[in-house]
Amino acid sequence: MSPLRTALVAQLLGGAIAASLIQIAYPTLFAAPLIAAAVQGICAALVSHKLGAPKWWLAIHLAFLPATLWVSKLGSDLNINPTWYLACFAALLLIFWRTDKSQVPLYFSNAATASALVRLLPNLPCRVVDLGCGDGRLLRRLASMRPDCSFVGIEHAPLPWLWAKLASMQRRNLLIRYGDFWRLQLDPFDLVYAFLSPVPMPRLTAKARAEMRSGTLLVSNSFAAADVNCELSIEVGDRRGTVLHCYRM
Ligand SMILES: C[S@@+](CC[C@H](N)C(=O)[O-])C[C@H]1O[C@@H](n2cnc3c(N)ncnc32)[C@H](O)[C@@H]1O
Repeated sequence: MSPLRTALVAQLLGGAIAASLIQIAYPTLFAAPLIAAAVQGICAALVSHKLGAPKWWLAIHLAFLPATLWVSKLGSDLNINPTWYLACFAALLLIFWRTDKSQVPLYFSNAATASALVRLLPNLPCRVVDLGCGDGRLLRRLASMRPDCSFVGIEHAPLPWLWAKLASMQRRNLLIRYGDFWRLQLDPFDLVYAFLSPVPMPRLTAKARAEMRSGTLLVSNSFAAADVNCELSIEVGDRRGTVLHCYRM
């Protein structure tokens, strides 16, 4: 089941269980919506756990209904136009896009990672791609450090893509594309960089094996590729303990 469906089932089932428990044990609780919502949160979190959802979903289920009630009360107390809620939802959607599907959240490679990565580039001009380039900050750093190389970023989340596109307009050696990196052929590139999550790594490894030219380099920030020998692991030495896993095709 997809993570969103699991969450929906947990919320609905949690709601039904909580309503039955309250009805049987303590019906007056229905008059205290925040407490009833907290009971629903606990039931939803337990259902989610039973369905095998990752642990961080528990906190979301515990907080979801109580937070929804609290925010809606705050909205009516402060007379906030409900359109603002819709606008916030739309903004979050445009930034994070289908994280539920890709299972790749948005976070950024730092300056120390860019410095470590630039040392991996050959001395000759080469082509580099960042799969899921976010707001393009890594590529902008690389593009200014190596003006002789060409850099491509591909991103499917609309707002980070737009930001990356606008911020890279002045750079002649940096191209930002909108789209799904699973549809991008990897054979033109000498170095493929990915900072994703553990979930897509087996698929990415298979794609890299099938499409990358022999002798080119796949570099994965933090998440190891599946069933491939790592040529080199570079500890970047930053506060988050970034490790770059490098695989020669
Ligand atoms: C962890 S961020 C890394 C951002 C950037 N590469 C960096 O290192 O600073 C992963 C990015 O991949 C994007 N992404 C995930 N799946 C994608 C896909 N199938 N096609 C394009 N972009 C994708 C996400 O929207 C997110 O911006």
